[in-house]
Amino acid sequence: MNRSIIRIVDGIQTSDGAGVKLKRIIGSPALSLLDPFLLFDEFGSDNPQDYIAGFPPHPHRGFETITYMLNGKFRHKDSAGNEGFLSDGSVQWMTAGRGVIHSEMPEKTDGKVRGFQLWLNLPKKLKMIEPSYNDIPSEKIPSIEIENGNVKIISGEFNGVKGPGMPHTGMLYLDVDLNKGTEFKTSINEQWNTFVYVYDGVMASKDLLVQSGQLAIFSEGNSLNFSSYDSDGLRCVVISGEPLNEPVSRGGPFVMNTKAEVLQAFEDYQKGVLVK
Ligand code: CO
Repeated sequence: MNRSIIRIVDGIQTSDGAGVKLKRIIGSPALSLLDPFLLFDEFGSDNPQDYIAGFPPHPHRGFETITYMLNGKFRHKDSAGNEGFLSDGSVQWMTAGRGVIHSEMPEKTDGKVRGFQLWLNLPKKLKMIEPSYNDIPSEKIPSIEIENGNVKIISGEFNGVKGPGMPHTGMLYLDVDLNKGTEFKTSINEQWNTFVYVYDGVMASKDLLVQSGQLAIFSEGNSLNFSSYDSDGLRCVVISGEPLNEPVSRGGPFVMNTKAEVLQAFEDYQKGVLVK
């Protein structure tokens, strides 16, 4: 059965970290959660003042963050001495698990900085696992030609090709570049929650149009198809995940199952034992 759009969501302009301007699409009052996705931000600007202050050291517990840089460079450091460098087209997959304290700082570059950060929830039984990182350079991300464009596979499988991402639950993450006036089709796990975020051009699905900067949530079904509407083609990310169907309790950078567990995370952070 073909999926169809059940809701179109506009992001809100906000700022986070030390004043990085961004658009928040999941994790906003309009769409607080799309199980298992807790947050989806697009950051991007030509003006270094909008991003250069970055995200100084801050903690996380209970989920994974997946940062995909379309353009620009980010340096990542954490309290355990890990360090990573993200550049154009690369992905950082961080599993916070029981706890990390890290910083994410952009490097000043000439061109544009643009990218996405997605928070993928961890199931209750995995929330307190050891933290880990997977820095994925752009050349490790399969980029395959399709009839009407190109697809990069960050996580999950498309046309028999597997992406390098290693989520702890089922998840698909594609970056789709579609020629003007053409169609994209893929099979998809029937019950996974699925959204498409348009970042260039216009997407058409049945009689609905989704503009750049909008997110479309699709109904359940084992097949997803949409078209590029514009004369300019379409660039979008297709993200789908296995719902956890567990209670979610959020407290800023910590996402647990109960309020008590969130308070415990704050206490561990204050006592300096979040990261051992
Ligand atoms: Co962070």
